[in-house]
Amino acid sequence: MATAQTAPAYQFVDHKFDVVVVGAGGAGLRATLGMAEQGLKTACITKVFPTRSHTVAAQGGIAASLQNMGADSWKWHLFDTVKGSDWLGDVDAMEYLTREAPAAVYELEHYGVPFSRTEEGKIYQRPFGGHMMNYGDGPPVQRTCAAADRTGHAILHTLYGQSIKHNAQFFIEYFALDLIMDPDGTCTGVIAWNLDDGTIHRFSAKMVVLATGGYGRAYFSATSAHTCTGDGGGMVARAGLPLQDMEFVQFHPTGIYGAGCLITEGARGEGGYLVNSEGERFMERYAPSAKDLASRDVVSRCMTLEIRDGRGVGKNKDHIFLHLDHLDPAVLHERLPGISESAQIFAGVDVTKEPIPVLPTVHYNMGGIPTNYWGEVLNPTPENPDRVTPGLMAVGEAGCASVHGANRLGSNSLIDLVVFGRAAAIRAGQVIDREAPIPSPNQASVDKIMARFDRLRYANGSSPTAKLREKMQRAMQEDAAVFRTQESLENGCQRISAIWKELPDIKVSDRSMIWNSDLVETLELENLMANAICTVYGAEARKESRGAHAREDFSSRDDVNWRVHTLSHLDPDGTVTLSYRPVHTEPLLKEEDGGISLAKIAPKARVY
Ligand code: FUM
Repeated sequence: MATAQTAPAYQFVDHKFDVVVVGAGGAGLRATLGMAEQGLKTACITKVFPTRSHTVAAQGGIAASLQNMGADSWKWHLFDTVKGSDWLGDVDAMEYLTREAPAAVYELEHYGVPFSRTEEGKIYQRPFGGHMMNYGDGPPVQRTCAAADRTGHAILHTLYGQSIKHNAQFFIEYFALDLIMDPDGTCTGVIAWNLDDGTIHRFSAKMVVLATGGYGRAYFSATSAHTCTGDGGGMVARAGLPLQDMEFVQFHPTGIYGAGCLITEGARGEGGYLVNSEGERFMERYAPSAKDLASRDVVSRCMTLEIRDGRGVGKNKDHIFLHLDHLDPAVLHERLPGISESAQIFAGVDVTKEPIPVLPTVHYNMGGIPTNYWGEVLNPTPENPDRVTPGLMAVGEAGCASVHGANRLGSNSLIDLVVFGRAAAIRAGQVIDREAPIPSPNQASVDKIMARFDRLRYANGSSPTAKLREKMQRAMQEDAAVFRTQESLENGCQRISAIWKELPDIKVSDRSMIWNSDLVETLELENLMANAICTVYGAEARKESRGAHAREDFSSRDDVNWRVHTLSHLDPDGTVTLSYRPVHTEPLLKEEDGGISLAKIAPKARVY
């Protein structure tokens, strides 16, 4: 039951829950549902209405080796994920993901997700980039389960309904400000601002789960929603905890040129292909086996090279064409209705007649809050690289388990959301002591959170938030792009550090507490900046090319020195301190017990 209590300057509405989940996308809702199903008293705080969370934009599908459309196995899926990650992912987490994937998808089906169907009524599965048969030998496997090209939409609506059914309590349009931390490093809750009535809420909990999504909006052009501002990463960095592998930022090959919105990889899965200004299907040259269905970091680089070599299309020769016009209009209507509509609205293109102009566009953050495969947040030490932070979990794009390593395969994100949302709930059921009292908030931590909020609310410098945000987005777009060099990355570090120094001079014009979007965007900018600065410093330091981190000056992968996870600690003055932790290379199951053979997943050249 909520009670009111006075604290300096701000009044708090206090709440006590077993679990507080922050974020209501696929991972947040799956965690919320799993917690509530077990009878844990569960709150879900979300800054947007749950079904408007960015998962709603996920199009092509969710990977699981169901074998509905041909042979497949979780071990092939594991191999593809290891290779896709360019051998940076943690093998235990990747095995957990791929083994649990079929059960997690059938659970979704039983909860009511309206998947597309085969003639026999089974869940429809399409090919996706980097998913192959026979441990990568091919051909492409049909592994990506789809609800037309609105799979995220279908999942989100179903999980929200199920969470309500199990009496999870939703706090909608509440902006989470910061984590309440005990001096011993235990997380005991979170403070959130109700945007609708201006009240401040202090949530105490035995477990806080961050499911706040990625930080695509640190870049100028992204497929991510404007709400993808890395709020969880910002909170974790301010709590003195590290972020992991932030240098790995995925560009999706097919953002609509100019608008940036997504054209699903499922379009190529259904037979679409890319051409340059000479009408050439250039992917055949770069990836003779997988062609247009090579891993998306590979396709994005090839497109960029074609444009650089003068073979881009359009007046400025600065983009590429995606052809779907050879496909049966009935297939387009049934399997790709959403992108047919997007292409019409955002590019003025009738996909049955003309190609879609596309360009690699920021899409996903492989890095995030380090966790184990139960979603428990790690605070590594040299002696214990897997040390757990009590009371805190992170799932979905906010977290880094790390199942995607240096590059995520398409459709491995939705499965990550539900497998690890579910895993977090299973783990919370094991570690939460239901008899124990809910912890009280540490006053010093609460005061610090409210002092920051108050400082930003009354900020009266000379740089409007939107101006600083645009500077950050342009610096990231130009200097931490598809291809990187020492010069571009040093430049990026200098530019982002200079913007960090400008933050104290920020200007907020609106002092009100109700629907103050100026203040929301300022809080979001601080979160974005925490993520952005760790990204550029991590990238500058990593002297190799791996997955989405493609350096022109260090063009090879260096497993001897760099098969390690980057940890970045951020000080309030903007100093980033980097350290490294080992990659988990051991599978969970031994080969003799039915697991994958170590030889199969040993590092080798990554060709498609
Ligand atoms: O292309 C897509 O539909 C995106 C899928 C993903 O990022 O997993």
